[in-house]
Amino acid sequence: MSIIRIYTDHDTTNLLFTSDNSSKIQARLAEIGVRFEQWQTGSDLSAGAQPEEVISAYRKDIDRLMQEDGYQTVDVVSLSADHPQKAELRQKFLSEHTHSEDEVRFFVAGEGLFTLHADNKVLEVLCKKGDLISVPANTPHWFDMGPNPGFIAIRLFNNPDGWVANFTGSDIAERFNRLEN
Ligand SMILES: [Fe+2]
Repeated sequence: MSIIRIYTDHDTTNLLFTSDNSSKIQARLAEIGVRFEQWQTGSDLSAGAQPEEVISAYRKDIDRLMQEDGYQTVDVVSLSADHPQKAELRQKFLSEHTHSEDEVRFFVAGEGLFTLHADNKVLEVLCKKGDLISVPANTPHWFDMGPNPGFIAIRLFNNPDGWVANFTGSDIAERFNRLEN
């Protein structure tokens, strides 16, 4: 089940709000310009599913988002707990950073913890199968796939070449929750 937890950004013990209700998650995230949706998921795609198969299963919603937000390209990433570089891959986006592009992820399977930093608050969003999250360009955030990652995600881009992490240099991410899986 997807969950949101909202804290003040300077006090990790001060939980302001938490909910597993998708409309409430959506409303809280909309306040900081983050799109959150739950897409109808069809038949289970197996871990070995080809990207074309994954994309074609969600073509309607992908096309809608591309049209609404002008995304140009789409791809599929898949990571499992037996990946030899899972520790390095986890580390990559664990610190606070921004992108000059939106970060758009749809969870076809598995889970991931997105944490957003906006309006002096920290918003942790545990995304699960069927969740679409779009972090706007320049919004500080971090992402944890956990020590034993397991997910398939569809990614949409304005320009995949421009999608690099600009680290803020802050250690704020170390004070908040990690994903244990
Ligand atoms: Fe990111």
